[in-house]
Amino acid sequence: MVDHLLGIEGLSKNEINRYLDAAHSFVEVSERDIKKVPTLRGKTIVNIFFEPSTRTLASFDIAGKRLSADTINVSAGSSSVKKGETLLDTVRTLESMNPDILVIRHSESGAAHFVARHLHRASVVNAGDGAHEHPTQALLDLLTLRQHFAKSKRSIEGLRVGFIGDVRHSRVARSNIWAHLALGNEVRLVGPPTLVPSEMSAVFGGGSVHVVHNILEGLRDLDVVVCLRMQLERQDQHFIPSLDEYSKEYCVSEKLLERYAPASVVLHPGPINRGTEISGEVADGPRSLIRQQVNNGVAVRMAVLYLLARSAQSHEEIIK
Ligand code: CP
Repeated sequence: MVDHLLGIEGLSKNEINRYLDAAHSFVEVSERDIKKVPTLRGKTIVNIFFEPSTRTLASFDIAGKRLSADTINVSAGSSSVKKGETLLDTVRTLESMNPDILVIRHSESGAAHFVARHLHRASVVNAGDGAHEHPTQALLDLLTLRQHFAKSKRSIEGLRVGFIGDVRHSRVARSNIWAHLALGNEVRLVGPPTLVPSEMSAVFGGGSVHVVHNILEGLRDLDVVVCLRMQLERQDQHFIPSLDEYSKEYCVSEKLLERYAPASVVLHPGPINRGTEISGEVADGPRSLIRQQVNNGVAVRMAVLYLLARSAQSHEEIIK
């Protein structure tokens, strides 16, 4: 009877807002001189990462520490996976040490679900599984948009949101698309047919998800432009003629935005490839919310850890 956060698919608008509301209250903690609250004192969080990460790993670690939990980071390179231990044996070994929450990143889609099915006492958080989902990234993106649009008294419902680039391999796009659909937003998937196949719309139930291959049409009147990293590590065949050819057509530049989506703000989950999917001018310019996304990563992960630990606590109280 433990709760997990494995994906955004299937979460309701209320459930998403519950995470965002909790994150909103944790933003202030990170602005204090003493950035620590005793909320998770005595809890243990294991971050196990089988893939490289800068933002997600650092922010989960910081989030746990700011909540006063004990955090341990295990990377595949320095774990017994190197000696041939299976994923299941590794996480069962870690569970034997009684952690309360296990945060996992893995290159295989479904890895977090697999782990959650086999663990009985620890909550599992998906920190990115293959090309499947990256739920905390979607939540921090929404929190960033919520803060931005609140300045003009707009909510984050009723937005036109475009994902530009390698949608096919993007877990960030998948989690975000489910989230925007739950909020009733219009979603545009923009890129070459190899990276944004026409049938992708049907994966999300058609309706509010539109596939557009022409970037000028795709950008038109968007409120939010999400640039996606070209994920060469997940591409097992040639999806584009060359990075040069790709960027000539699909790199999001200020010139394009000024003309086709002048009021838009820009997100990028990072790491960014300047000049490939986003120009340096856009990444560092006034419409970029990229730094704010990273900043919000800590508050969102504090919220997720707090809500999962609290729900485990209430289950314990129920069975007392
Ligand atoms: N956005 C994101 O997941 O970045 P990292 O790979 O650095 O964690």
